[in-house]
Amino acid sequence: MRIILFGGPGAGKGTQAQKIVDHYHIPQISTGDILRETAASASPLATKIKEVMSRGELVSDELLKEIVAERLQQADCQPGFILDGYPRTTRQAHDLAEILQQRNLNLDAVLYIAVNEQELVTRLSQRGRADDNEETIKNRLKVYESSTRPVLDFYKEKMLLQKVNGVGTVDQIFVLIRNVLDAIKK
Ligand code: AP5
Repeated sequence: MRIILFGGPGAGKGTQAQKIVDHYHIPQISTGDILRETAASASPLATKIKEVMSRGELVSDELLKEIVAERLQQADCQPGFILDGYPRTTRQAHDLAEILQQRNLNLDAVLYIAVNEQELVTRLSQRGRADDNEETIKNRLKVYESSTRPVLDFYKEKMLLQKVNGVGTVDQIFVLIRNVLDAIKK
């Protein structure tokens, strides 16, 4: 099963991805986690990535394409994967299509975890990650609206979009996600 978890910052992509990993035994590929690891490493890109993330801007499409192409080649992705936080621009959606096409793979679904902006702000403000300060949250939401939300149309056209209500308890939302994923598996 190859799926994308889509949603605004704080929508619960990482939280639900973890539950999907446990239940369906496919790996989570979180570009945010990969970038945070790179930013904390001795990579020559570390400083630049850290600076972009701290402003709540997006890291370049080119770098993301390299990261994702390399990660998807790894053996654990053979049975499927959950992309968490990628693609985030229509350019990235095209890049992903190219990466998958080269390997004759299709996506099964794009799960859109829908959460209103007020709830997103509340969740992020309570968490306290380095990019969860007021100014950066504001910009992450702005970038989401301008660059990321349009990706929904890309997948809607391809009939891959599945929307779930992302407000409720973590377990309630996971039931909705399982309903979608179990129907795909059949
Ligand atoms: P990334 O790490 O992907 O951050 P994000 O999309 O802003 O999402 P979050 O991780 O903040 O939230 P989430 O949806 O995973 O929710 P979570 O489960 O954590 O990206 C960070 C940065 O990296 C970007 O800003 C960008 O700079 C860069 N980047 C990453 N990918 C990129 C790409 N493809 N291209 C370019 N740049 C890229 O939950 C959030 C909080 O809410 C938690 O505290 C959680 O406990 C809580 N919560 C979860 N579910 C619920 C619930 N149902 N009810 C109440 N609280 C809940």
